[in-house]
Parts: sequence; structure tokens; C-alpha cells
Amino acid sequence: MTKKVFIKTLGCQMNEYDTELVRAILTKADFGFVEDEDKADIVLLNTCSVRENAHRKVYGHIHSLKHRRNGNPVMIGILGCMATGLREDLLNNRHLGIDFIAGPDSYKRLPELIEKCCSKEVEATGRSPVQKPFDVTLSEFETYSDVYPSREQGINAWIAIMRGCDNFCTFCVVPYTRGRERSRSPENVLKETRRLVKDRFKQVTLLGQNVNSYKHEGSDFADLIEVVANIEGIKRVRFMSPHPKDFPGKLLDVMADNPKICKHIHLPLQAGNDRILNLMNRTYTQAEFLKLVDKFRAKCPQISLTTDIIVGFPSETDTEFEDTVRVMEKVGFDAAFIFKYSQRKGTIAARKYPDDVPGEKKTERIVRLNQLQKEISRRKNRALIGSVQEVLIESASTTGSPGSYYGRSDGNKTVIVAPGDYAVGDLIQATVTDASPNDLKAEIAQPKE
Ligand code: SAH
Ligand code: SF4
Ligand code: F3S
Repeated sequence: MTKKVFIKTLGCQMNEYDTELVRAILTKADFGFVEDEDKADIVLLNTCSVRENAHRKVYGHIHSLKHRRNGNPVMIGILGCMATGLREDLLNNRHLGIDFIAGPDSYKRLPELIEKCCSKEVEATGRSPVQKPFDVTLSEFETYSDVYPSREQGINAWIAIMRGCDNFCTFCVVPYTRGRERSRSPENVLKETRRLVKDRFKQVTLLGQNVNSYKHEGSDFADLIEVVANIEGIKRVRFMSPHPKDFPGKLLDVMADNPKICKHIHLPLQAGNDRILNLMNRTYTQAEFLKLVDKFRAKCPQISLTTDIIVGFPSETDTEFEDTVRVMEKVGFDAAFIFKYSQRKGTIAARKYPDDVPGEKKTERIVRLNQLQKEISRRKNRALIGSVQEVLIESASTTGSPGSYYGRSDGNKTVIVAPGDYAVGDLIQATVTDASPNDLKAEIAQPKE
């Protein structure tokens, strides 16, 4: 009988993409998928380990699942970034009751791992920890180029153009959980994009931990994004994330010249102080970051900029934190994702620097930056009132007035569009009528196509 699988995805877009790969791999092996976790024979958790609370979420999830099942069997598999680092803890913790583990480069082996779990021999011994199947091997080559992800129908499709990371920012687990950097061939990315057009997707977002280091034979990221954007039928192309240390001028030129490439850059700052940036191994200074922002704005004045920031990195003083405040004020990001430093086992920072900024201090700093960002976002969004924005309509709005739709502006801002003569998937010109720190309200100006 077909086994029913439920998969829950935590973490970043890379994990969302991987979930789509897993769905494709298991569907081919005759597994079925269910929307209701309580009806599943197998529950897969595609996990994240970037911060401590990500771990808590997984433990909490398994606990409540076991509680609801009330002794009825369910097979639990751990996938994703927690798999790599926590193999032993997970398998030996009997209370958790995890049955198998597959790391980010082992998804093709999932059918086999599940099969092992179901085997009579393992069942008879009650699946002792030593027999629990796992594969957390990290590959230097696996890019899943031969798997076409099983996506839910929608407007945006993620495409991982590379996997892994070689940057080793000292706070970050990703180089350990996802292994070495490797890129897919441009031909393969193009093939996937063409198929996406046939499957009626309108936008692709090219994903990599550091897209600027994309490299395949003679091609770099600027070459790749240009050919992807030139595919007929694709309305928009986005990418995430570049690293401030090596943003190529060529990429900026390609972005400025190609109307299909969205004028939005997510450029993680992490900190505004040079000593902290150095301890983080970010390999750029405050001045270099600011210069890069000036370069973006000189070339492309309407560019929308978003960022990630960590507060309370080991030994960060109040004065050093003020540098981050100043950079945020100077740049005026359109949005910022701000995190408290979370020490991760195995990282360089965990080995070298004690996590010595008190919790209250981290809270104080994150509250301050969130308030500052909210003011900046409000100011920037309100400045758009009266302007015409190009909006890609994604779905009916759940928050706006009845009949209104949800979409995104070229700069990646959420836009609630009043009812009008347009439909999901349309790229429309819309006049901004109101704005808050989180979204824009707009009405259709004229249909584009
Ligand atoms: N490769 C991406 C980042 C992926 S992780 C990039 O460099 O852009 C996403 C964000 O999580 C990071 O930008 C960072 O701000 C945050 N992060 C990573 N490790 C962290 C840690 N140990 N504590 C707190 N935040 C962290
Ligand atoms: Fe982590 Fe740095 Fe790599 Fe981003 S670039 S994934 S923050 S090591
Ligand atoms: Fe993404 Fe979390 Fe892994 S942010 S790369 S799922 S550690």
C-alpha cells in the first residue's frame, strides 16, 4: 500500500526548494503526500540549525506529534541542516523517537532509508539506535540537476543554482551543515526555467548562499542571470543572496539594463563596526559596505535594499553597536531582518569567542534596531504614495478589503491592490494610495500587457 508522507519545512528558501526535491524523489518512488500531518504514515521534518530557537521548534514539533498520536505508530525522519550536526544526539535520544536521518546531500537515498526502517529485522528489535538508518554524507558534487522539483502551483519558483558555502563567517553553521560550494551548469538552470514557464510560473528566484561566487566553467552569476531573464515567458527574475565582499560591477550593469531583473538586492550587513565585522570574518569594512551602497544607488536610483543584522556578537560593546545603528540610518534599508547572536556548536565563533553579551543587552539592541527600521520603512514606503509601481499579482488578499489582491512590487514590497481589471499572474502598473512600514496599498493604473 502507498505510504502517506507529510513534510514540514523550517528554515530558509533553500530548504523550501529542497522540500520540493524530496517530494519529487519520493513521488517517483511511489510514495503519496498528505496535507494533514495526523493522517501521515511518515512525517518528515526539513530542519534548520541557523539559530537555537530553530532547534526548539523541531523538538517541540516532535513532542506534540507524539502526544497527538497517543502511542499509534508514526515514522519520523529528520532532513535538512540539523541532520548533519546532530546525528548522534538525535538517534540516541530515545524519548524523541526519531527513525531515520538524511542530510541535504542524501535525499536521493530517502526511499532506501525509509525501506530500511520498514524492514522486519529492524522492527523486531524495536529500531535500536545503532540500527537506525542515516546518511548525512556531504557531497562535493551533488546538485540534484537531474531532479525536477515538485512545486505547488504558484507565481514564484525557487531555483537553487548552487549548494553549500565556503565563506565560513565565524557565527554560521551553514558551511558545516551544507558542505562545500558547488554550482549547477547554466544549461541545466535554463532547462529548469523553460519547464517552469511551461508550468505557468511567472517569476524565478535564483538561490545560493552567496550567489556572487556562482561559477561554472567560463560562466559567472551575471552571465547566468542574464540568460535566465532572457527566456521568453519569464516575467521577473530575483536572486538571494549576494555577499557584500565581492559584488561584481558586471552584475549591477546587467541588473540595470534588464527590466525583467528586479531592482532589489538583499545585502546582509551583519554589523556596522569594523572590529566586529573582522571577528565575524565578513571580509569587508563599514566604509566598503557604504561605498557599495553608493555605487548601487548611483547606477540604479530606485534600487530597494534589504539586509540581515546580528546583534550581540561576542564582545560587541555599546559603542560598537552604535556603529550598526549609524550604518542603518545612513543606508536607510527598505527592510531588515534582525537577529540576536546565537552560539552554534562547531562554528569558529563558538570555539574562539565566549558568548558574553548578556541576554537583556541583546534584547535591548534588537528592540532598538527594530524600532529604528520600522521608522525608516514607514518613511520610505510613504514616500512612494502617488508613485506608479509595477506589481506582480500573486494571490487573493487575505488582509485587504474583499476582492483585493496581494502582489509584490519590483522592489519586493508587499502590495495590496484594490479590486480591478486584472488577475493572478498579471504584471500591472499600480498607483500607490497608502503605505505602512509593512506594505503598500494601491489601485490599478493601467494593464501592462
Ligand atoms: N548565506 C546567507 C545567510 C544565510 S543565514 C548570506 O550570507 O546572506 C541567514 C541569516 O541568519 C544571516 O544573514 C545572519 O544574519 C543570520 N545568522 C546566521 N547565523 C547566525 C547566528 N549564529 N546567530 C544569529 N543569527 C545568525
Ligand atoms: Fe553563513 Fe556566511 Fe555562508 Fe552566509 S556567507 S551561509 S552567513 S557562512
Ligand atoms: Fe537555511 Fe537554516 Fe540551513 S537558514 S541553509 S535551513 S541552517
